[in-house]
Amino acid sequence: MIMMDNKGNAKNKMKAIVNERYGPPEGLKLKEVDAPTPKDKEIQIRIHATTVGFGDIAARDFTYRIFHMPAPLYPLMKFVFGIRKPKKTILGTEFSGTVEALGANVTLFKEGDDVFGYVGQKMGCYAEYMCMSEDGSVTLKPTNMTHAEAAAIPYGGIIAGEILRKMNIQPRQKILIIGASGGIGSAAVQLAKHHYDAEVTGVCGTPRLEFVKSLGADKVIDYTKEDFTQSGETYDIIFDILNKSSFGRCKNSLVKNGRYILASFGMKHVFQMLWTKLIGSKKVICSMAMKEDIHPVKELAEIGTLKAVIDKSFLLEQAAEAHKYVEEGRKKGHVVITLDHL
Ligand SMILES: NC(=O)c1ccc[n+]([C@@H]2O[C@H](COP(=O)([O-])OP(=O)(O)OC[C@H]3O[C@@H](n4cnc5c(N)ncnc54)[C@H](OP(=O)(O)O)[C@@H]3O)[C@@H](O)[C@H]2O)c1
Repeated sequence: MIMMDNKGNAKNKMKAIVNERYGPPEGLKLKEVDAPTPKDKEIQIRIHATTVGFGDIAARDFTYRIFHMPAPLYPLMKFVFGIRKPKKTILGTEFSGTVEALGANVTLFKEGDDVFGYVGQKMGCYAEYMCMSEDGSVTLKPTNMTHAEAAAIPYGGIIAGEILRKMNIQPRQKILIIGASGGIGSAAVQLAKHHYDAEVTGVCGTPRLEFVKSLGADKVIDYTKEDFTQSGETYDIIFDILNKSSFGRCKNSLVKNGRYILASFGMKHVFQMLWTKLIGSKKVICSMAMKEDIHPVKELAEIGTLKAVIDKSFLLEQAAEAHKYVEEGRKKGHVVITLDHL
């Protein structure tokens, strides 16, 4: 298959940000690499926008924050990502772009379709082109969003969407979200408030209080100034995204039959989950999003329930700067990388 650039010239090379060794953001380099060609059931997407999220930073550095998982999974993850150096040299888990070429057996998309989606740990979005299965987590871009906005919602929308769906939240139930300003948390606040009609309290740091409020949180708690476990307030659900609390300390902040839900957990929490299943009215639940279904995210975006809040936008060649900005804890919303200038 021959790809063309804007001027109609054949193009089998593309620009991409390549990470050849685990380490700091400076390792992210703009390079010219072979452009991927689609297999029979794959579409080739010209990427217009992608983001910097938790997964990108964890995969770039690997030692950084990746331990938010049961210890036995770590060697497996290291094997998947590369033991000494990264196997996945092109980062980027979510994207918005245009279908540029089709594999021989593609039936769901046509050339020129604007699409958005999530490739998760497969990565590869920090590049001009990316190929993925038409049956993957990809669908037409929400009509009410720009490419930059659409690229910012798949990860949070999919993970928060699936975990909240399993929570079976009832209207007016009280939910406390710890990590409310992050990729998953910001989607969880919006969905809990606007889709499930819950009473939402978001826990975050001082610089992001206004941001979390703007997402729809009824109340915000600054964890640098206030310990919610000491307030006497109780919740139906405490959802801790980053494993920043503990069941022991949160127990008194849960109502009878309340649930303490973790998106990041270790073996200790898995044992707590088994134990509380047998004994006591308050339950620990370690929750994983397994489906990676983009379709509900598109629907929620199109009815205005799920919005992207773009804090800052960087060009592809500024990927290292974008990572630094996120890693320094400066973002207040989504950080987007755009490729339209290439
Ligand atoms: N269960 C699953 O299926 C699943 C899937 C993907 C990822 N994960 C897990 O999700 C986690 C990443 O979540 P994410 O992508 O939302 O992270 P993120 O975008 O990196 O956001 C992290 C947020 O946590 C906040 N934070 C830091 N310390 C805090 C504290 N003590 N209390 C409350 N908030 C605090 C930070 O902002 P502030 O400074 O404003 O607090 C930041 O906004 C990882 O641990 C990953 O393993 C789970």
